[in-house]
Amino acid sequence: MRTHRIAAIGGDGIGNEVIPAGLEVLRAVQEKQGDFALDVTDFPWGSDFYRATGRMMPEDGLDTLRGFDAIYFGAVGDPHLPDALTLWGLRLAICQGFDQYANIRPTRVLPGLQSPLRGVEAGQIDWVIVRENSEGEYAGHGGRAHQGHAIEVATETSIFTRVGVERIMRTAFRIAAARPRKLVTVVTKSNAQRHGMVFWDEVAAHVAREFPEVTMEKELVDAMAARFVRKPASIDTVVATNLHADILSDLAGALTGSLGIAPTANLDPERRAPSMFEPIHGSAFDITGKGVANPIATFWTACMMLDHLGEHAASARLMRGIEAATAKGVLTPDLGGTATTKDVTEAVVAAIRGDNT
Ligand code: IPM
Ligand code: MG
Repeated sequence: MRTHRIAAIGGDGIGNEVIPAGLEVLRAVQEKQGDFALDVTDFPWGSDFYRATGRMMPEDGLDTLRGFDAIYFGAVGDPHLPDALTLWGLRLAICQGFDQYANIRPTRVLPGLQSPLRGVEAGQIDWVIVRENSEGEYAGHGGRAHQGHAIEVATETSIFTRVGVERIMRTAFRIAAARPRKLVTVVTKSNAQRHGMVFWDEVAAHVAREFPEVTMEKELVDAMAARFVRKPASIDTVVATNLHADILSDLAGALTGSLGIAPTANLDPERRAPSMFEPIHGSAFDITGKGVANPIATFWTACMMLDHLGEHAASARLMRGIEAATAKGVLTPDLGGTATTKDVTEAVVAAIRGDNT
């Protein structure tokens, strides 16, 4: 039987509630399919691990993870530790350490959910946001001098490389080419940022020539934010820089009902190292321990993980299970319901067991 090795890292906060729920629905899918196995290893890395050891993960953490086929990740962030420490110590250390340069964020209004936009029905927003995940505004390039003095200075330099922009454009065009509308919107801010963003536009135009079947259009990021709200049906595949896509994807999550359903995949499309699958929402300390975290984003990212592993039938089965639960109205409080994490998990597991497609 095909076996895929999964590294599970709950991390912090509700990450440790949604990842076990995700593993439960994955077990149900695996049992139902019966043609593949997941060999899951848990890693207790994160802020508690930092308090105990002084590191968010062991020094050889990346070497350990390299032997896995995928990483199933919850969240990092702790109210008592600086965000930059927890983030760079674990999540960004993995993303950048494995050069997971493509961050893929599907966005859709699921059955039974309501967009806050008037007149937008289930299925009507159907986008894929492709976020550059290795450079740009997150390159970590900059510094501070004269700290605490009146002349203090801080810089944060965005980095755009030809290799970096070409590869994210190719990823976006490939994704668009496989979708019915074959439409890519390249988002920049090249009116105001006349070096990196003009370069981004030039590289996009160059890569577009390799994909004559795909229509490319350009949009400035501020105008794109407005278009998300005003003309959501006009959008299909969106490619943007690390920071622009970060902001747009929170807006996208909100427009489809809740950030609690929004999944993401940090991909190395060349498969030199494992890719990482996680919910977008973060550690959410305000609701940690209450048992009400929405596990849907973590389930949906499991679909992305199964697809990446080549288990397309299992992925489709899990997505049907998720949609059956949302359509039935089994919803956590972020979606206006009263269901717990456990209720949603049980509803999805029951739907999977009863799905004889
Ligand atoms: C996201 C998150 C992260 C990001 C944070 C936690 C640093 O907002 O995945 O969108 O900006 O990359
Ligand atoms: Mg974000």
